Amino acid sequence: MTPRTLVFATNNDHKLSEIRDILGDSYRVLGLKDIGCTDEIVEDGATLHENAAIKARYVRDRFGYDCMADDTGLLVDALGGEPGVHTARYAGGDGHDSAANMTLLLRNLDHIDDMEKRSARFMTVIAITEGDDIRYFEGKVEGHIAFAPRGSHGFGYDPVFIPDGMQTTFAEMDADEKNSISHRGNAVRKLLAYLAPL
Ligand code: IMP
Repeated sequence: MTPRTLVFATNNDHKLSEIRDILGDSYRVLGLKDIGCTDEIVEDGATLHENAAIKARYVRDRFGYDCMADDTGLLVDALGGEPGVHTARYAGGDGHDSAANMTLLLRNLDHIDDMEKRSARFMTVIAITEGDDIRYFEGKVEGHIAFAPRGSHGFGYDPVFIPDGMQTTFAEMDADEKNSISHRGNAVRKLLAYLAPL
């Protein structure tokens, strides 16, 4: 069967390969570079849903492909749900400095010695355009923020996130193990269940 083409509005190679692994051979997933989109898409929504929709609609409107886009936030209970929608640019800058983001997060939790009180969750919202309509899929994973970064796999805040029921951070897991429980994995599996019968 010819694989179905889907554009995923991201320049993040880690995310592209995660999505390709989860969606499997039935889908050919193209990133922004693959369709010649080098624009900086301004994500100025107030929620994860708004930001995901902004990216998906941008590609749909300018490039004509139906498109999926995700937006992820790390919500830390002791910080009132921050960084939340500010997760990418928590420490300022252009959102690519994961080391600075993790350093700030660990500093802001410095006074909390009790692991139970370092509870947090990753939440992903995937938006997918269907012509003028848009559909959303959500996924989350509960866990805790480690006292120091551990591991070298993955990206972003993976070295400081320990999912519930595990001793290791996301960055100490291989990609399959992370995908099987992650926020994005859970959201993509819902998307896949929706797409499969189409
Ligand atoms: P985005 O919405 O996917 O661009 O992600 C927002 C922020 O969350 C960025 O700082 C990412 O590095 C971080 N992030 C997104 N997904 C993950 C993940 O699976 N692990 C760790 N950090 C992530």
